[in-house]
Amino acid sequence: MCGIIGYNGNKNAIPIVIDGLKNLEYRGYDSSGIAYFHNEKIKIIKEKGRISELEKILDDDTPNLCIGHTRWATHGKPSKVNSHPHKSGEITIVHNGIIENYASLKEDLIKEGYTFLSETDTEVAAAMIDYLYSKDNDKLKVLEKLEDILRGSYALLILFRDDPDNIYALRKGSPLIVAKSKTGNLVASDIPAILDYTKDYYLLDENDIAIIGKNDIKFFKDGKEITKNLLTFEFDISSAKKDGYKHYMLKEIYEQPKVIRNYLDHYLNNMDLIPDLSVYEKVHIVACGSAYHAGLIGNYLFEEYGDMEVTCYVASEYRYKKNFINDKTLVILISQSGETADTIASLRLAKEKGAKTLGIVNVVGSTIARESDQVIYINAGCEIAVATTKAYTLQVLTLSLCAYKLGIIKGKIDKNRELELKKSYYNLSKEIEEVLNFDYKKYAKRIAKSKNAFFIGRLIDYYICEEGSLKLKEISYIHSETYPAGELKHGTISLIEENTPVIAVITDKKIAEKTISNIKEVRARGAYTLILKNKDIEISPDIYDDVMEIEELNDLVSSILTIVPLQMLAYHVADSLGYDIDKPRNLAKSVTVE
Ligand code: F6R
Repeated sequence: MCGIIGYNGNKNAIPIVIDGLKNLEYRGYDSSGIAYFHNEKIKIIKEKGRISELEKILDDDTPNLCIGHTRWATHGKPSKVNSHPHKSGEITIVHNGIIENYASLKEDLIKEGYTFLSETDTEVAAAMIDYLYSKDNDKLKVLEKLEDILRGSYALLILFRDDPDNIYALRKGSPLIVAKSKTGNLVASDIPAILDYTKDYYLLDENDIAIIGKNDIKFFKDGKEITKNLLTFEFDISSAKKDGYKHYMLKEIYEQPKVIRNYLDHYLNNMDLIPDLSVYEKVHIVACGSAYHAGLIGNYLFEEYGDMEVTCYVASEYRYKKNFINDKTLVILISQSGETADTIASLRLAKEKGAKTLGIVNVVGSTIARESDQVIYINAGCEIAVATTKAYTLQVLTLSLCAYKLGIIKGKIDKNRELELKKSYYNLSKEIEEVLNFDYKKYAKRIAKSKNAFFIGRLIDYYICEEGSLKLKEISYIHSETYPAGELKHGTISLIEENTPVIAVITDKKIAEKTISNIKEVRARGAYTLILKNKDIEISPDIYDDVMEIEELNDLVSSILTIVPLQMLAYHVADSLGYDIDKPRNLAKSVTVE
């Protein structure tokens, strides 16, 4: 949440920082601002709203050094005064994260004579740095002291008024990268901000400090200068660009066949990279949002193919409840960003209790990737749309491969079946390409007219529905709920009115008849029924309004295909309503607050 960027080099820094902010806007988009040196002072320009609002009020200065911020409000509503950069005395900063003890620090600083304009924790951090600097003129020492004073998570870019040549950067908990390009040095929250200039970057570790000059970059830890490894962004740069698509979300949905093919080429041919879950007594899967929905499918598949005790938890609950885990438990943390605060806290708790931990992560070098005992990178490339699609699909695929390996080890998948399944995995991309061609607009138009929608399914279809429903509500703002198909009549069916959309997923033949009965029940009460089913499940056309048919695949593979029509449906509903699909109301990518 919140994107920060700084540039120090030979070029006019303002357009570089503004472009960088646009590439980071998916992290937060309620206000933005920049700061740079001008006539020996620091000039701050900030505005409420999207970066396009900030652009309208920029001056035509051409500084070579500038820092910028795009905000997702936590402390104080979105407003000009609460937006970053914040200045206190000699210090101007931008911040991503949360200073948990800002209220008590603020009281202390007020006693020291400081006054505050905004409601933010960030202004308190700026004042604290200014206070420390007024006591000790050693910049590095002041920044090191912050580690003991500021509680919470933060990535900070700092300008000292008496040092117009450098940007100071530090991180604890929130990600920060530093990059060297031909025309200058950059520092940013995430890779997309630097990709127009370079693919090479350094990753700041916990409590690292960087001083970013025009020509050189210095890194420090515990008061000593250190060297860091230069990393290279391995993916095609186009994974961070819109490439002619109307929205990133649509582009990322369409990227799925390709990323799945690449993923399988890598992992299916190197099954040693997939852990053997049979050595554990039980498995806990912990994640948030869509990653949790992926976990629900993993839970089901591990039970089916491993005959083992598995439970999937929402991370913000897991970390506070009683958990019976020990060194024979594997805790799997699923996270696209690798920076989700509650998932990180669950990981640390699991480690404290002696459990083994496995991170299923997209962002290379993120906190969860670094702190887990083992990590599987899903290699989705940059995912920019706030609503996840390709990362979710690859999370499910990773869990599916874990179950596949488990089934082989447990003797539930014999040699013939193993080969058959391998074929199904490889067919997946082709099948997805097929379903991308469905005419979603006609169904979308009907759903877009409603205020409420329901998704129903049983077992694995129910878990898919959870994700389909989240996709629909987060980008179209249509209230949507998911129910196990048999549960609807225990109360919720009272909400079904004439034309209420009920989307039913039926891919499991064993229980198809049961869900079909539930569709009849809601149709009899006036619902608009849209069925997503396997081609070879026969359903009489007079029990539904519309149907989408997909190829029948094994349950290890089918959910990865089934989700795609639901992603497309959500997209087209939101698009027909004219919403800003990549930046839904109130949301942000990478939820680094608890
Ligand atoms: C929904 C969505 C979120 C994330 C959740 C976890 O489309 O993207 O629900 O899945 O915030 O994020 P990560 O995977 O980064 O931990």
